[in-house]
Amino acid sequence: MYVCICHAVTEDDVRGCLAQGACTAREVRAACGMKPGCGACTKRLYGLIRQHGPESDGERGTVQPTAA
Ligand code: FES
Repeated sequence: MYVCICHAVTEDDVRGCLAQGACTAREVRAACGMKPGCGACTKRLYGLIRQHGPESDGERGTVQPTAA
């Protein structure tokens, strides 16, 4: 399933980035090649980051506000 339609990024893509060490929304976006777009994927992205949270060291899953 797509997380970000604007950049054709799937849940598997995001999970792969998280597994390789991306911890924040900013890091996942950079690792997955998600450039600024419509922003409709933000909630889904944060949800996936939170799901990855059990391995948290206190930083993982942190929601980083995006600049407006
Ligand atoms: S759906 Fe991700 S920027 Fe539009």
